[in-house]
Amino acid sequence: MQVCVVGSGGREHALASVLSRSAEVIVTPGNPGIPGSVVTPAEEVDADLFIIGPEQPLVDGLADRLRQRGNLVFGPGADGARLEGSKAWMKGLLAEAGVPTARHGAFTDEASALAYLDQMEDLFVIKTDGLAAGKGVLVTGDRSVATEAVGEYLSGTAFGDAGRRVVIEEGLSGPELSVLAVCDGKSAVPLVPAQDFKRLGDGDVGPNTGGMGAFSPVSIATTDVVDSLMEDAVLPTLATLRSRGIDYRGVLYCGLMFTPDGPKVLEYNVRFGDPETQVVVPRFTSDLVDLLASAAAGSISESPTFDDGATVGVVCASQDYPRSPRTGDPIEGLDAVAAVEGVMVFNAGVGEVGGRLVTAGGRVLTVTGRGPTVTDAKERAYRAVAEISWPGMQHRTDIADAATSVATTG
Ligand code: AMP
Ligand code: GLY
Repeated sequence: MQVCVVGSGGREHALASVLSRSAEVIVTPGNPGIPGSVVTPAEEVDADLFIIGPEQPLVDGLADRLRQRGNLVFGPGADGARLEGSKAWMKGLLAEAGVPTARHGAFTDEASALAYLDQMEDLFVIKTDGLAAGKGVLVTGDRSVATEAVGEYLSGTAFGDAGRRVVIEEGLSGPELSVLAVCDGKSAVPLVPAQDFKRLGDGDVGPNTGGMGAFSPVSIATTDVVDSLMEDAVLPTLATLRSRGIDYRGVLYCGLMFTPDGPKVLEYNVRFGDPETQVVVPRFTSDLVDLLASAAAGSISESPTFDDGATVGVVCASQDYPRSPRTGDPIEGLDAVAAVEGVMVFNAGVGEVGGRLVTAGGRVLTVTGRGPTVTDAKERAYRAVAEISWPGMQHRTDIADAATSVATTG
């Protein structure tokens, strides 16, 4: 079988490397650090199965165009992709489906938005309605920062058109969890949960990023938690989508927060998470190609299985990410990493100059360590990260610390 993965990040590299256990894989556009990358656009590629990685082409209807051409596609059409493309639409659908989520309001004018902010207590959450590459969410305890952000979002200065409608939410707190459910339109199966670290700095400080690291498994994500999430969120969401005539075939990524009032859905994404994928798919023991092809065809063949081990993924980012990432720096140390046992490197913002790999984006690569426990996996990941360098390279040093402290205190 020939599989075409659309995208160019660490997520697509991880998908391609696991899919290639049982299929011939090409990645478009990929990057110089992903084997099998081709420049041919997806619409000109001939493949038995297309898997669309990023949200933007899904929101833009790439899955629809490929399906119209008769292709088998894993990824929702533009209709289902609105779950990520418009947070206000997503919140409306959650309300209709009865899924627990944060209280919210959606606004296009400043006076009403500020009046709603007045009703919030000590944590203010402002989100762009539209896509903003994972950076459109502001969580602050400072009322004046929130007020200023509302102005900048609505005027278009902060995030262009994506912010001209804002969603303001009640601030929740608690541990977070990412669960990726593979959906075939009618039913869904969960993949092993992961936890993602969205803030730039150690100890969860600094700006929100696309994700600075992840690990799996997560101790709070018991089988009961995942079963209830499927019953209370994923299946009602699919049913509500279906009642609106939407046949959702692809990943439904649930970003959950464990609040004192129980788990709530913070966000839906319509694709595999990045960097969650880099820690989830290496743990597959069943066939990823079969699973995604059967979901794309409308009937999931069987539930996936995963190894009993653990994975820890550490994202290495370029200088000044996420504000204004510097690019063009040579990446050193990848050969030395190849010698570290139990480590995989997934390339994202990587380019090539004169036959050498150089930084070409914000999140440059993810180093995933594997091992029998999270502690082992973490130790391997960081041993490899220590070999890699470029000027101004940033990475967190505390990925999976929450998990290892749970493990060591029993
Ligand atoms: P989102 O892209 O909507 O998941 O938001 C990105 C991050 O912002 C989440 O992972 C949370 O850490 C934080 N966040 C989002 N919504 C809320 C909320 N209602 N209360 C507190 N934190 C939130
Ligand atoms: N890691 C968060 C995301 O993929 O949106």
